[in-house]
Amino acid sequence: MNLSVIILAAGAGTRMRSTKPKVLHRLAGIPMVEHVYNTSKSLGAKQVQVVYGHGGELLKQQCQHFDVEWCLQDEQLGTAHAVQQASPHISDENVVLILYGDVPLIKAETLEKLVNNVSANNVSLLTVNLDNPAGYGRIVRENGKVTAIVEDKDASHEIRAIKEVNTGIVAVNAAYLHENLAKIDNNNAQGEYYLTDMIALAVKDGNEIITTQVDHSYEVEGVNDRKQLARLERIFQQGIAEKLLTDGVTLADPARIDVRGDLKVGNDSFIDINCVFEGETNIGSHVSVGAGCVIKNSSIASDCTIKPYSVIENAIIDRKTEVGPFARIRPGTHLQENSRVGNFVEIKNTTLGVNSKASHLTYLGDSEIGKNVNIGAGTITCNYDGANKFKTIIKDGAFIGSDTQLIAPVTIGENTTIGAGSTITRDTEDYGLTLSRSPQKHIKDWQRPVKKK
Ligand code: UD1
Ligand code: CA
Repeated sequence: MNLSVIILAAGAGTRMRSTKPKVLHRLAGIPMVEHVYNTSKSLGAKQVQVVYGHGGELLKQQCQHFDVEWCLQDEQLGTAHAVQQASPHISDENVVLILYGDVPLIKAETLEKLVNNVSANNVSLLTVNLDNPAGYGRIVRENGKVTAIVEDKDASHEIRAIKEVNTGIVAVNAAYLHENLAKIDNNNAQGEYYLTDMIALAVKDGNEIITTQVDHSYEVEGVNDRKQLARLERIFQQGIAEKLLTDGVTLADPARIDVRGDLKVGNDSFIDINCVFEGETNIGSHVSVGAGCVIKNSSIASDCTIKPYSVIENAIIDRKTEVGPFARIRPGTHLQENSRVGNFVEIKNTTLGVNSKASHLTYLGDSEIGKNVNIGAGTITCNYDGANKFKTIIKDGAFIGSDTQLIAPVTIGENTTIGAGSTITRDTEDYGLTLSRSPQKHIKDWQRPVKKK
């Protein structure tokens, strides 16, 4: 069976009060429509089509990486009309699943059940029971079989009391879809082509409507405004937090963690409140992440301690390393085993060797630092001359005194000690002391300048 997914995403989304198309608004760091796209792909869909209208150029640009067919729906004449913009490009043998770009949390497991219920001439429909079904199309049944979907505005008092509603998500054979879409007209109050008319047609033709019920209503909740988006974001984050807890990770507060991407954490690790994880991040076991850390596309091995308010991006941190508080670890950094980076230290494109330390107020850029090195407070690698970047090499066992400037390109020899306050412009020899400050002197009767009258 070949699966084709049509994602409807042409709605204007006026209630978002936004200049960008609704489906580009982000949930957990990626556009809502990308969640739906990813879910489609995870179902093994061979063909994914996105029906777009409003803000199409921006949509296509931000979703360049999608492997989809873009189908323009110039005027929004209803859900069946939207499906018609895509369906001619689907071959008759396929099964078609219709999803919505603004219903981001639908799960693959649910859709698998729905798709598996499709047979020659039936319609496989996803429904949900809602405590408050107002606004939705109600599922009307006789002797258990679906006989109609009645839109809220067309519903009688009795029908309004029905709690089972249409989610809009359906799966059918493509041949069946092609045949029946053509029969749908717009003779209704709204003058729209309703996809739900396919249900009425099926009932009329004596074809079966098989329903699948979704367990959690959030899976089929659509986003119309930012309040609903924020609500779904929290639900999504709660799911991630619960998974981490189940996997043996302690969270100081499961309601105060944000994962925007793929986070893997080993057991017995601890994550304090208000941390944000972006992209792909791997954290080992027995790691502690302090409050307020932002960690992106990084790998942190077991037994590390990341102290509060550290920002780490595209970095590799080996075992037993300590970072922060208030450290900034930028792309291309590799902190090797048992190294330590303290407060107000910025590191970029640098390897800090085993057992080496930069404990305070330092900038290390484009550097290769050996093992057992101590970088004193206020050390700056001057890696940039305003036009080009240069490399600093610090060999094993070096001791860099406080407030030293290392003017790259420069190599500090093995076990060299650099006296505090030095400006190092040339390579240093191994061992010994190198310093570049002027001898201290005292001018006894020196006067402070006075303000000119
Ligand atoms: C629809 C269903 C209703 C169901 C509800 C669930 C119909 C007639 N009604 O109502 O039974 O309970 O969804 O949320 O289908 N869209 C397009 N092009 C269009 C029209 C819509 O792409 O021309 C997209 C919208 O962007 C939106 C989705 O289709 O994402 C649903 O359309 P909408 O008009 O909001 O349908 P509802 O009135 O909510
Ligand atoms: Ca809607």
